[in-house]
Amino acid sequence: MPTLLGIDIGGTGMKAAPVDTNTGDLIAPRHRILTPHPAVPNSMARVFAELTTHFDWTGRVGATFPAVVKAGVARTAANIDRSWIGTDVAATFARSSHCDVTVVNDADAAGVAEMEFGAGKGQTGVVMMITLGTGIGSALFVDGVLVPNTELGHLKLGKREAEARASDSVRQRLGLSWGKWARRLDAYLLELERLLSPDLFILGGGVSKKSDRFVHRLTTNAEVVPAKLLNEAGIVGAALAAQKANGTSPTPAPAATTAAAPAAKATVPPAPTAPRDGTPSSA
Ligand code: BGC
Repeated sequence: MPTLLGIDIGGTGMKAAPVDTNTGDLIAPRHRILTPHPAVPNSMARVFAELTTHFDWTGRVGATFPAVVKAGVARTAANIDRSWIGTDVAATFARSSHCDVTVVNDADAAGVAEMEFGAGKGQTGVVMMITLGTGIGSALFVDGVLVPNTELGHLKLGKREAEARASDSVRQRLGLSWGKWARRLDAYLLELERLLSPDLFILGGGVSKKSDRFVHRLTTNAEVVPAKLLNEAGIVGAALAAQKANGTSPTPAPAATTAAAPAAKATVPPAPTAPRDGTPSSA
């Protein structure tokens, strides 16, 4: 059974689990630690190492990151500290964890997992995965092939970016009713449809668990379905990306570069304290 550790890094939480990359199943309960704030490289690298230690992991790791990632390097930083821009994310995490690390954009990873094992399986044409979380992420597929690093959550809706109006964190922060939030989301999806004419929208992120509250209120011509892997898609996609980067899978995972674990000891000290029982921590 090919097993890789997947770590899904978001603006709010960092979640890890070992993944059977043949089936997309998590083979141990996931472990989650809150993303440190400020979300700067050193503190996030410590949490990353804490997650690998939790699973006694020494092998290959795939990680998602909530930013444009090209060849392991972050190019943007919307919901994390700006000091990440230009930082080699894969090398930073490889240093702290002593693992070989592959890093890709979080929405791209979630999309690849859905196309492989979930709501997008076997789908041709233009498929758009939209992740609704702290921000809004997008993954665009044309006949199953990913167009990496699309940043469609930053599309302007009137004066503001879509993620400032229709992300799940905005729904929670403003206490929007499902109806009110669905109207914002609908306006966003209609704009995407006007520009890109997708055949299918897949909605991901934690809120996809509650899709019965809002999907029926959406009015696009394209079908809208919730992600099947729910909020495990990022972890699974991260593992697939690591596998793909090491040339062992036909999976159309995001283009990625792996940073090898350094021979020397960690330059980042281990995380001070974080629960190992699955309880979110503010480490
Ligand atoms: C970032 C994207 C990311 C999305 C979801 C956006 O703010 O720019 O890169 O995919 O949030 O985390």
